[in-house]
Amino acid sequence: MRMKRNIGIGLMGLGVVGGGVARVVLEKNRTLAEEIGCPLALKKVLVRDRGKPRPVLVDSHLLSLDPQEILADSEIDIVIEVIGGEHPALEYTKEALLRGKHVVTANKEVIAKHGAELLKMAQERGVSILYEASVGGGIPLLLPLHHGLLANEITTMYAIINGTTNYILTRMSNEGVSFDVALKKAQELGYAEPDAANDIEGKDAAYKLAILATVAFHTVVQPEDIYCQGISRLCKQDFRYAKELGYEIKLLAIAKQGDGSIEVRVHPAFIPVEFLLAKVDGVYNAVQIDGDLVGTLIFYGRGAGAQPTASAIIADVIATGRVICSEGKGSVRPRPPQRMPIRPVSELETRYYLRMGIADRPGVLAQIARVLGDHSISIASVIQKEADEVTQTAEIVIMTHPAREQFMQQSVSEMEGLSVVKEICNLIRVEE
Ligand code: NAP
Ligand code: HSE
Repeated sequence: MRMKRNIGIGLMGLGVVGGGVARVVLEKNRTLAEEIGCPLALKKVLVRDRGKPRPVLVDSHLLSLDPQEILADSEIDIVIEVIGGEHPALEYTKEALLRGKHVVTANKEVIAKHGAELLKMAQERGVSILYEASVGGGIPLLLPLHHGLLANEITTMYAIINGTTNYILTRMSNEGVSFDVALKKAQELGYAEPDAANDIEGKDAAYKLAILATVAFHTVVQPEDIYCQGISRLCKQDFRYAKELGYEIKLLAIAKQGDGSIEVRVHPAFIPVEFLLAKVDGVYNAVQIDGDLVGTLIFYGRGAGAQPTASAIIADVIATGRVICSEGKGSVRPRPPQRMPIRPVSELETRYYLRMGIADRPGVLAQIARVLGDHSISIASVIQKEADEVTQTAEIVIMTHPAREQFMQQSVSEMEGLSVVKEICNLIRVEE
């Protein structure tokens, strides 16, 4: 058998993550060679702008503006895709697989939307596509789900899987920092997506939840199956009331399986301060998984940033490199996914926090209570602060007992039509 001299790497992207990956490949090459069985050779790096200053020293002759210099190079065995976004990343990934190259990617959008098709293509070509870095940054999540937890039926996952929003929420909650200031800092730290709206509006978390649920439940979950609401409506009053009531506000990604269907949703939620997930701060991510055999597990670690993400990517490169060195033996054969029905969010039953501005005069609370009562929603508590004398408006917060989402939404629509209701400021689900 002819031993491979080295494993050729084509790196697509040299931004936050690509820079972290290049640094590890260049600085840890000896250790990696020992792990894999032969050294990695960084052959080409795809960028948009060759003149841009880079945080890592990569030989300028390796930089290229032409993807074909990677895709058509027969000496490149593994393509690492860290340019991000759906296009042209999807086309480059497909072409790499079709040309018989292994792919390692951090691209949750591409995997969440096209994972099943890409896995099939890879299988047909006898290569692999690994994507550990697409969910949870540096936290190993997909490998445990693919291997160590296979004997379990996974019933529930509660996850904080967007570092940017968790960083923003933590700073707003702990330091009263404004949303815009916290977002700017998260961008400076390299946590945010190239289009930060994907983080803020919950899309990034939904992509990751689609990937997690697909792997954990052996089903196909598409991003459009996921009910998704971001954090842009949250304001300082919500954090103040949350604290007063004994909660933290987190952007949760939730997946549940039962009775032959699944529930998948991403939205801000009140969670009791004593819950472990309530203590997950800053860029940290955590995923709580319940399996029928193992019980509850919590995975916790840095969910974004150059080094943690490079850690996950390089682990996939090592796994791929070992397969290349052993000529294909030991490759993973995941269970073919089936399509399970998705329960609509309208069927959800949970408690709610409702904050609104109302006219400060007698009988107003009774009108609101009647709307809720008409939809079988029971009030657990009410907070009313002093009214604003100029506008004659009072702010109230209602905490409900468990109620059906559909009835809660109908109540809110009806309340919006009441002349005494000035504004429905926020409706947040409570997870207990
Ligand atoms: P980034 O800093 O914006 O870097 C993107 C890189 O790709 C840049 O080097 C850019 O080139 C290059 N690029 C973009 N479009 C290109 C195109 N059409 N042709 C050639 N090169 C192109 O992004 P990032 O934060 O590293 O994220 C990369 C991927 O990793 C995304 O899929 C993201 O979701 C994922 N991810 C990020 C993190 C994180 O913490 N940032 C964590 C986990 C996963 P120039 O430098 O020349 O502009
Ligand atoms: N923008 C993503 C986040 C990067 O903030 O979690 C990691 O996937």
